[in-house]
Amino acid sequence: MTTSTGPEPLLTVRDLGMTFPAPRQGMRRTAGIKAVDGVSFDVRPGETLGLVGESGCGKSTTGRMLVRLLDPTAGQVDFQGNDITRLSQRALRPLRSKMQIIFQDPFASLNPRQPVRQIISAPLRAQGLAAGEIGREVRELIQLVGLAPEHLDRYPHQFSGGQAQRIGIARALATRPALVVADEPVSALDVSIQAQIVGLMERLQRELGVAYVFIAHDLAVVKHLSHRVAVMYLGRIVEIGEKAEVYANPAHPYTKALLSAVPLPDPAAERARERIVLLGDPPSPANPPSGCTFHPRCPKAQEICRSEPPLLTIAGPGQRQVACHFPES
Ligand SMILES: Nc1ncnc2c1ncn2[C@@H]1O[C@H](COP(=O)(O)OP(=O)(O)OP(=O)(O)O)[C@@H](O)[C@H]1O
Ligand code: SF4
Ligand SMILES: [Mg+2]
Repeated sequence: MTTSTGPEPLLTVRDLGMTFPAPRQGMRRTAGIKAVDGVSFDVRPGETLGLVGESGCGKSTTGRMLVRLLDPTAGQVDFQGNDITRLSQRALRPLRSKMQIIFQDPFASLNPRQPVRQIISAPLRAQGLAAGEIGREVRELIQLVGLAPEHLDRYPHQFSGGQAQRIGIARALATRPALVVADEPVSALDVSIQAQIVGLMERLQRELGVAYVFIAHDLAVVKHLSHRVAVMYLGRIVEIGEKAEVYANPAHPYTKALLSAVPLPDPAAERARERIVLLGDPPSPANPPSGCTFHPRCPKAQEICRSEPPLLTIAGPGQRQVACHFPES
C-alpha cells in the first residue's frame, strides 16, 4: 500500500519493525520491546514528512532505521531504489552521503575540540574533495545557514544553541543529501529560535530540494513546514495524510487529542478551543494493551477496540490513512 501520489518516492518504508531484547526479570526473559511495529510510509523528493507522537512512541528508533544507524528487526527501507536494510556497510558507503541525520542536542553532536571549519568539512574530506574545493564549499555552507566565514575558526562552545544547530545543519547538508532525518532539531531551543531554525530549514529545502523527515513531540512544531504528517502511537502509525487534511479534519481520536493542544492563530477560534486531555501516560511497549493499543486512553473506545487491532486503511481524501474502528468522518 502506498501513502502518497505524485513523483516516484525517494524513500519507501515497508512494515518496518524494531524489537529490542527485553531486560531479564529474575531468571526469565519477558517478550521483547516492540519499539516500532509495522510502520509503512513514503517520502517524495523535496517534501517534508512530519513524524509526531508522545515520548517513547518510537520516533527516534524509526528515524535511526531510515538512515541505517540501527538495523531493523523487520521490514524494509528503500532509498533511491536500494533496500538499505540489506546492503553491506561497504555497499552502503556511497549512499551514506545522500542521507543524513540531525539530532536534538546540537552541542552533543559537535566535537568540542574541533573548530567549525573542521566539523563542516569532515564529510567533504571523506568524499576525497581537493583542499581548495573544500575551502570554497565550507565558506558557502556557513553562509547558507546564516552564519559568517569568521565563525569557521571558532569552537562549538562559543555559539548559542540556535547557532550550534545551524552548524549541525551545515554539516548535514555538506554532501548535498537527498534526505535529512531531523530528530527533534528544535526541541532544545527557545521558542523564538525554533521559528528561525524551522524557517532556515524551509528555505534550504526550497534551494536544495532536500527531503526531510521532521520528528517532533507535538503537531504545533511541524505544522508550518510539513507537507504531510504521520502520527505515531506505541510504535505504530495511527494516522497519515496531507497536512491540510489532517489538521482540518483529524480522523483518529489520538490525532484529535494532540491537535487540541495546538494554539490557533484566529483569536475567536483560540478562545473556543477545547482541550482533550488524555488520561494517564502511554503504556509501555514492553506490555502493550490488547486490540487497539490506544483503547485504555481513548474517549471513543467500544468493546471491539479491546480485542481487534484496527488496520491502517484509507479513510478520506488525499490518500489519508487511519487506524481506528470508528474514525471521524
Ligand atoms: N536500545 C534500546 N533498548 C531497549 N529499549 C529501547 C532502546 N531504544 C529505545 N528503546 C525503547 O523503545 C521505545 C521507543 O523509543 P524511542 O526513543 O524511539 O521513542 P521516541 O518517540 O523517540 O521518544 P522521545 O520523544 O522521548 O524521544 C521506548 O519505549 C524506549 O524505551
Ligand atoms: S479503534 Fe477504538 S480505541 Fe482505538 S482509536 Fe479507534 S475508537 Fe479509539
Ligand atoms: Mg526521540
